[in-house]
Amino acid sequence: MMIQRMRQIRRSRDLSSLLNLEMADPIPTTTFLFLLFFLVSPTSSVSVSIYLSSNTLTKSGDSVRIQWTGVDSPSELDWLGIYSPPDSLNDNFIGYVFLSSCNNWQSGSGSVDLPLVNLRSPYQFRIFRWTQNEVDFTKLDQDKNPLPGTKHLLAISELLDFENGHGPEQIHLAFTDKDNEMRVMFITADGKENLVKYGEREDGLDEVAQTEVRTYEQSDMCDSPANESVGWRNPGFIHDGVMSNLKKGKKYYYKVGSDEGGWSLTHTFVSRNQDSDETIAFLFGDLGTSAPYSTFLRTQEESKSTIKWILRDLEALGDKPAFISHIGDISYARGYSWLWDTFFTQIEPVASAVPYHVCIGNHEYDWPLQPWKPDWAKMYGTDGGGECGVPYSLKFNMPGNSSVPTGTRAPATRNLYYSFDAGVVHFVYMSTETDFLPGSNQYDFIKHDLESVNRKKTPFVVFQGHRPMYTTSNEYTDAPLRERLLKHYEPLLVNNKVTLAFWGHVHRYERFCPVKNFTCGSKDLNGEDGKDWPVQVVIGMGGQDWQPSWQPRPDHLKDPIFPQPNWSLYRGGEFGYTRLLATREKLTLYYIGNHDGKVHDMVEIPAPGRVLSGGGNSGVEVESTFSMFVKVGSILVLGAFVGYVVGFVSHARREAALRKSWIPVKNEEA
Ligand SMILES: [Fe+2]
Repeated sequence: MMIQRMRQIRRSRDLSSLLNLEMADPIPTTTFLFLLFFLVSPTSSVSVSIYLSSNTLTKSGDSVRIQWTGVDSPSELDWLGIYSPPDSLNDNFIGYVFLSSCNNWQSGSGSVDLPLVNLRSPYQFRIFRWTQNEVDFTKLDQDKNPLPGTKHLLAISELLDFENGHGPEQIHLAFTDKDNEMRVMFITADGKENLVKYGEREDGLDEVAQTEVRTYEQSDMCDSPANESVGWRNPGFIHDGVMSNLKKGKKYYYKVGSDEGGWSLTHTFVSRNQDSDETIAFLFGDLGTSAPYSTFLRTQEESKSTIKWILRDLEALGDKPAFISHIGDISYARGYSWLWDTFFTQIEPVASAVPYHVCIGNHEYDWPLQPWKPDWAKMYGTDGGGECGVPYSLKFNMPGNSSVPTGTRAPATRNLYYSFDAGVVHFVYMSTETDFLPGSNQYDFIKHDLESVNRKKTPFVVFQGHRPMYTTSNEYTDAPLRERLLKHYEPLLVNNKVTLAFWGHVHRYERFCPVKNFTCGSKDLNGEDGKDWPVQVVIGMGGQDWQPSWQPRPDHLKDPIFPQPNWSLYRGGEFGYTRLLATREKLTLYYIGNHDGKVHDMVEIPAPGRVLSGGGNSGVEVESTFSMFVKVGSILVLGAFVGYVVGFVSHARREAALRKSWIPVKNEEA
């Protein structure tokens, strides 16, 4: 209801919105042509001009104003195509904007401001008139709208390029396997030598790290559209440097680049501190990216809000170390290369400040000839758009050395399964897209890893993967995979007393009880009764919108189950992210909704052997940290709703102390 309305509003303006048609359904040809007949004037023009406010931009995110004049008998379907490189064929635009989405379009003149990403080659803009004769129902976008036709070219702009000398872009950090290191990756156009300069003072970047450089080619792509001219663009060169010998928990300044190609702005991060008794992380799945134009795929407008609120939280944290965990379905580029550039530009404000960790999702990988595809794995289809994991594997460099061959000439798929400690939490990542069954390297790694955790050092264990083990979404396709996760991985999680299991793929937030085989534990999370099972949480609400509804009722097949099964304690449809705070005493998870940046769900889990009595210094630390967050009063105003949550949890904590239990149950959809 409310959620459906929000999701409809978020859809971008395109042909269907012009025609007031439902985008999710195929458009009947006859209806479409009938409407088009009345909308489109066949008149063409030969005097259209395009003017750019500038022929150069400095950095990704800078805007250009594109003006046009002289469009005769303007039609609602006249459109502006965005091209890069400029020798792209007319059908190989990277995006388009209908002129009628701009003010005064009916006068035949107008303008649009477009923030653009540096794609390392110039842009060009072309205006077309689309006529009914051109409608081609074999060329559809993701929402089954016909892609605009290119037979009637009205005007071509001059070129727009990004200036040289402003340094690399798309900077993002990651942990390495060593506690005293921090990895930084970035993109350049030429792949020439670029360095990382860093130090503890902004005016003392005395340490220098070299970078390794790699790239990939069109012939490395495994399927359409990634290996076709419509989707392929030169990805530039990926630089990978490691800042080493870092002191624990210190603020460092750094910049990347070269004297020849220019230097980035100076960024900061806080180094790891394994002696810390506090862990802070921001976790979500399925974020995607937002583009200022329509393209072949639906992009994720909501991802902007998710990043905005996390940036708010990071700024409030000051000099405390934190990191981000994005558990699969990363950019949703799916073979349209420039959306990776858009994604890394979008996350740079957060990813240049804290490590950005990922695991693989279907939209980074799945393609028809993927090497591991058991008979039951019908869910492994074409979701990767032919990228076969290559951009994901090269643009990120996660800890560990997990790798599987692609079975083609493409580089091996990396960043599959790994783990690291951050403060008091041991974090584990798995791949649900490559072999995870017993007998696989992945299974052996995860089994050994979970059995080897030093719980005195890290009393909490957080497990993460893309496709969920538990969901009450009406998601049938993955049922065979869920069966295998439940059969082979739930025992690992239960027996090794994993604290939390996070999953994405389902684009909603759903928190389960401490669960084993669809049965709730006693809610005594202290382990005294042996039922301190993992709390399962689906966090795929980062930005992607499309999602089946909740499971239907058996007797009302069109209505979602409500109330939900008793093992599902909170279901939320709002976009957002989770914030994890852990001390030696307890782990607290918050679900932050994007529409207001406030807490919508919260759960506290005591460390093994602890109770939520609130005693001890570490309990105070959580309170102080949370207080620090909410003190960002200009944005996070403590409204009645949050007051309720905090009051509720305080009450729950007192109750819990008495019963050694937890009671964070609330349902936004009630
Ligand atoms: Fe997914």
